[in-house]
Amino acid sequence: MDLGGTNLRILRVRVVDGNLEVLNAESTPITTEIKQGTGERLFDHIAARLGDFPVPQDLQGETLPLGFAFSFPCEQNQIDQSILIRWTKGFNCSRVEGKDVVTLLREAIQRTRNMNYNIGPVVIVNDTVGAMMSCGYNNPSCEIGMIIGTGTNACYMEEMRNVRRVEGEEGRMCINTEWGGFGDDGSLKDIQTEFDVKVDETSINPSVHIFEKMISGMYLGEIVRLLLVRLAEDNLLFRGRTWQALRTPFTFETKFISEIEEQDDGLVNTRRILTELGLERELVDCAVVRLVCETISSRAADLCAAALATIVNRIRTNRGLSHLNTTVGVDGTVYRRHPKLSSRLQEKVVELAPMCDITFFDTDDASGKGAAMAAAVVQRLARQ
Ligand code: GLC
Repeated sequence: MDLGGTNLRILRVRVVDGNLEVLNAESTPITTEIKQGTGERLFDHIAARLGDFPVPQDLQGETLPLGFAFSFPCEQNQIDQSILIRWTKGFNCSRVEGKDVVTLLREAIQRTRNMNYNIGPVVIVNDTVGAMMSCGYNNPSCEIGMIIGTGTNACYMEEMRNVRRVEGEEGRMCINTEWGGFGDDGSLKDIQTEFDVKVDETSINPSVHIFEKMISGMYLGEIVRLLLVRLAEDNLLFRGRTWQALRTPFTFETKFISEIEEQDDGLVNTRRILTELGLERELVDCAVVRLVCETISSRAADLCAAALATIVNRIRTNRGLSHLNTTVGVDGTVYRRHPKLSSRLQEKVVELAPMCDITFFDTDDASGKGAAMAAAVVQRLARQ
């Protein structure tokens, strides 16, 4: 199961000899009412979706292990326990912060009466860890997981001797960086624009996850909209007119950026989107809108590249290597759907980390599949 920022995805998978096969999958959006309601309502909703999920006859009454990609900052001391530190990505469900998410899920499963199978051991991972795990299975050199979707984040394998909070010097351990929270101490002030400041101030979690608010799918469309309003106010766009639609927060969706930047000489997509939004435009306006989208998405790619370059350079110097070959497992709609962001990011990382060769590997449902992998491993260890 994968609770990202926008949808809840449930997959039934079979892991045999290291091969993972998705047997069926379902996705449901998480509405704003649920995102901002009580924790009980959120977990009842999740339990109800697990209950509705079709399982074949031969599995009814059986106990299935559950891999849960829960994509929020948590304090995790055990594989089946994860305490939510704080919500991000527009979630603000009451009475969940400071609590163990697996316990809340189990309590909700007990409340629901419509399950025709049982949930056995629950293994909880961050979505970045899921992305790294699912990529790592086929690519042993994968030691980084990255998400650019509704939110953005990365995890990587760190040397134990550098992990001060855990005893032991041997081996490696996966660190969830929560890089979305970079800048929360004011360190990004120099590069934040007035649009970034506005996006942050009007969000439900001001001053939190500043870096994420400059990069991820939840915010990119809104940054573009604010920039367009400013250009119109300065008489540089739409002959100085700002319509109600343009003034309404979140009317410019992040997916429009991807559509506008598709290979499209006649600016057909841009014209269509502006028309659908009810904005009267000339051809020059379309070109400006496209330029704004390109500017904002390239900046997002560059910022992610900078963060990723920091990680690969760190891994390289930690190991005293002059050259590092590594693989990154990636997931997230922005990375996967935007026509240019991934290539821009990859080019930029080469520039910023010239002594590292990085292979990027993205797959459908990487986070959910990786969570399933983790659950399969734990199940196998328990049997042994
Ligand atoms: C947010 C969450 C983080 C998650 C990321 C991508 O930044 O805090 O845990 O990995 O979004 O979904």
